[in-house]
Amino acid sequence: MTDKQRKILVTSALPYANGPIHLGHLVEYIQTDIWTRFQNQRGNHCTYVCADDAHGTPIMLKADQMGITPEALISQVSQEHQRDFAGFMVGFDNYYSTHSEENKYFASLIYTRLRDGGHIAKKTITQAYDPEKEMFLPDRFVKGDCPKCGAQDQYGDSCEVCGATYSPVELKNAYSAVSGAKPIEKESEHYFFKLADFENTLRNWVDSCVQEQMIHKLNEWFESGLQNWDISRDAPYWGFEIPDAPGKYFYVWLDAPIGYMASFKNWCEKNSVDFDEYWNEASDTELYHFIGKDIAYFHTLFWPAMLEGAGFRKPTKVFCHGFLTVNGQKMSKSRGTFIMAETYLKHLRPEYLRYYFAAKLGSGIDDIDLSLDDFRMRVNADLVNKVVNIASRCAGFIHKKFAGDLGSIPEPFKIKDAINAGEKIAAAYENREYAKAMRIIMSIADQANRYIDEKEPWVIAKQEGREKELQGICNTGINYFRTIITYLAPVLPQVAEDVKKFLNLETLEWNHQPLFNHKINKFKPLMQRIEEDTISAMIEDSKATLAAIAATTPSAPSAEETELQKNPVADEVTFDDFAKLDLRVARIARAEHVKGADKLLQLTLDLGGETRNVFAGIKSAYNPEDLEGKLTVMVANLAPRKMKFGMSEGMVLAAGPGGKDLWILEPHEGAQPGMRIM
Ligand code: 2FM
Ligand code: ZN
Repeated sequence: MTDKQRKILVTSALPYANGPIHLGHLVEYIQTDIWTRFQNQRGNHCTYVCADDAHGTPIMLKADQMGITPEALISQVSQEHQRDFAGFMVGFDNYYSTHSEENKYFASLIYTRLRDGGHIAKKTITQAYDPEKEMFLPDRFVKGDCPKCGAQDQYGDSCEVCGATYSPVELKNAYSAVSGAKPIEKESEHYFFKLADFENTLRNWVDSCVQEQMIHKLNEWFESGLQNWDISRDAPYWGFEIPDAPGKYFYVWLDAPIGYMASFKNWCEKNSVDFDEYWNEASDTELYHFIGKDIAYFHTLFWPAMLEGAGFRKPTKVFCHGFLTVNGQKMSKSRGTFIMAETYLKHLRPEYLRYYFAAKLGSGIDDIDLSLDDFRMRVNADLVNKVVNIASRCAGFIHKKFAGDLGSIPEPFKIKDAINAGEKIAAAYENREYAKAMRIIMSIADQANRYIDEKEPWVIAKQEGREKELQGICNTGINYFRTIITYLAPVLPQVAEDVKKFLNLETLEWNHQPLFNHKINKFKPLMQRIEEDTISAMIEDSKATLAAIAATTPSAPSAEETELQKNPVADEVTFDDFAKLDLRVARIARAEHVKGADKLLQLTLDLGGETRNVFAGIKSAYNPEDLEGKLTVMVANLAPRKMKFGMSEGMVLAAGPGGKDLWILEPHEGAQPGMRIM
């Protein structure tokens, strides 16, 4: 136990309220949760708060697309997020929303103080504007051809093909991803936070408050000069209106980190805790933000500067981590490695992943890889074969031969090295060197298993007169196990609970003495092996789930998509409606590019004598030459539609999440063009 109880406030980044939690997110929440549990287990007072990041254009547009209010969307997503976090045993003290009264209060307060301190500037800027939707367009919502390499359908800020960065007004053939309209340029007055006013404060702060690898990054940012930060957006915008500026709203990133304070305030009110003790300028409590390296700029420059300017304390430290890859690559929807929290939990227990992440995490910003084979083998080898095995090898004898009594401590007591390793393990947790902590713990488990191997209790159990010896060996094994689980408790909270019941203990104290003359309960299996089939089933489930989501919730449609699918979320149809469809096998006689179209291919379909001309939005997935001669399924009685490029006389059926992963439905061998699908 440390001499003084530290008061610590910890946060993880606030997830956007417009999408599900996936394994990539979980690296951070698991990392933070382990740290929080560790601190509390050591006797500190550590509070962990989070919230949904509920404002901004994407959330506004998504709600619009779904035909619901933003309030309804964020409330639905909040429930899903909280369900998933609870499923992974992420134990927030408070989970809130940035769309809250507390957040509105603090955002206004901080802004007003910054303004009164002379740190806000106004400037008129020109931006892309959607004349149909009557809104300014964030860069990501303007699409068009890259001004450098000509690649089509690129976002307004950067080209995914050549990597060029530019402003949306430079795009060729630009269109609004919201309505498809051609954007115009429009002026508007914006509010800016004068970041450079805080350069000295920030330069001093970063030296002790960010990781070594981040200091280099920050120095680069200082060298390139601190620019004014645009903190306002024009209506229509989903967020908080700026107090002295009707029709202007705080940019989502202004009120997002303030959400940390708001969530904590909300918790303080419910628990009679003094908020000011944690946030006043001279606070001696500790404040840590766990974040991904991609959002470091906001947390290491804007956020401490805002706090300084508004008279609040700055973070004690900002801890950045790297990204997650799966099987060595970016998570991929088509490969099934873009695994949502909910999907994972249908197949595997959360502690497997918590342990695997812990075994991989260091204090730096390197990416970590979830190699699914390694994951399975490591969990099986370390947790099941090594750790749980210690208890299962000893508990039976204690239960059967000694009525659960551990007996006295045999001398010299074996496990003192294990207990003494506690401080080294604690230092590793404290420094977020979880991989190191896991290595030390597993080496203790190796020692324990070697000890049991050498002593062969199963042989001794068969020999009369050696009962005391047997009890001593099993006592040692159980004590090893107790110490190991104590050190693993921040990572494996449910196992720790189960072990407390098994060992008949109220708590698992970090600093402990061996158990003796103590009764334990019957051992029940604590953890099963992960089977290969379970992983495959999860991957298949992941592919299917994402394909189903993609089919029902289209992303912001492009101009052509708007033309192709006016009503992307279909209403329910009756069986009679369905029976009206004339589905036929068609042979793709010819497939060609369409001049001026980014997404369409022109198909000539042979229905066994009759041919049809169809424009299909599958260019992202197929080269025309690969399609010729293939069979597909088409809706043959769709009323012809006049499109910009000509008449479309039917529709081919395709499935998949989109982009490159879009499969033309191919009937099995034996199908003949013209054949009806029943
Ligand atoms: O990058 C993101 O997902 C943001 N929603 C994180 C916000 S963290 C904090 F500042 F609110
Ligand atoms: Zn380009």
